[in-house]
Amino acid sequence: MNPDIPLQLLGGLTAREFLRDYWQKKPLLVRQAMPDFESPISPDELAGLALEEEVESRLVLEHGERPWELRRGPFAEDAFADLPERDWTLLVQAVDQFVPEVGELLESFNFLPKWRIDDVMVSFATPGGGVGPHFDNYDVFLLQGHGKRRWQIGQTCNSESPLLEHADLKILAEFDKTEEWVLEPGDMLYLPPLLAHCGTAEDDCMTYSVGFRAPSAAEVLTHFTDFLGQFLPDEERYSDADAQPTSDPHQIQRDSLDRLKNLLNEHMGDERLLMTWFGQFMTEPRYPELIGGIEMDEEAFLGNLQDGAVLIRNPSARLAWSEVGEDLVLFASGQSRLLPASLRELLKLVCAAEALHSENLGQWLGDETARNLLWELVKQGSLEFANE
Ligand code: SIN
Ligand code: CO
Repeated sequence: MNPDIPLQLLGGLTAREFLRDYWQKKPLLVRQAMPDFESPISPDELAGLALEEEVESRLVLEHGERPWELRRGPFAEDAFADLPERDWTLLVQAVDQFVPEVGELLESFNFLPKWRIDDVMVSFATPGGGVGPHFDNYDVFLLQGHGKRRWQIGQTCNSESPLLEHADLKILAEFDKTEEWVLEPGDMLYLPPLLAHCGTAEDDCMTYSVGFRAPSAAEVLTHFTDFLGQFLPDEERYSDADAQPTSDPHQIQRDSLDRLKNLLNEHMGDERLLMTWFGQFMTEPRYPELIGGIEMDEEAFLGNLQDGAVLIRNPSARLAWSEVGEDLVLFASGQSRLLPASLRELLKLVCAAEALHSENLGQWLGDETARNLLWELVKQGSLEFANE
């Protein structure tokens, strides 16, 4: 994708300009980011999803049994029957995994790395409905899908910002409104992390939130060191050959700290392992139980492709690739595979995985490593045959 082409989605900015001036920095309102946008799902379909066991959903009622009552899905069929006329909202996570047309919306965001995307959350709200003033730790693009929503933005927050006393919802105790807009279908608001915001439905409305993800520093450190630990033998320890005689046996001397820092740097600086861990971590699926995989022998697998079957990415799978030294690695739903550099074009094809079939796979099916990779991905569940 050419980063210097003006994009309607970004109000005529190029991807390069948006990344330079707005991404992670300041909000951007785009009128008609997606002209003539029509919500790919109806409020009833959204409510239907909220009944499903594997779907994460929430209902927030501003004036429920207590202020800002949170009810968690999955919901019973009659859960929506007795709701008040206004001031409530239903939010459903990861709709992109369950409704292909919603998943397709993500193609418009291809100027950002796929592995940074979390999900598309879809909300339906009755007039006055919203989740209250809050901030998120992540970037989000809020695309208005149906009806009108008033968005207000406020101060930049952090984990010290005062919150209302509420067991389940992080609602800001203070909200210093700086700007507001009413969004209509096709309008979009980009918000950087930590910016206070409050969306209130003007009428029955649906909002699509394209949410991003970034591991916290604490997560990076704890998970990476756990990962590293698996490769370190027990005998590899803090060591102090050539230690200087100590003047006071109770003092931990500076040179011990240096030895410790060397030990840490030696392992933490291992780029190969860091990349491997990072790729695995960032491709861990949100719902691992939806990456089932199947038993299939190689003959049946190849037979399927020869008979015209089409392979696609499991909508719940995450795929990425990277270079590690001379080699390549494919990350698929939390697993990594080291592969020869000759497979570069195949890895790109697999990660895009719109539709893989004997025609576009062509030569790769004659290559044993390539064939095995595809077969393994089907068995693991990251790829699946479209007609199954
Ligand atoms: C919503 O769609 O109502 C909430 C989105 C958000 O503020 O994060
Ligand atoms: Co938010």
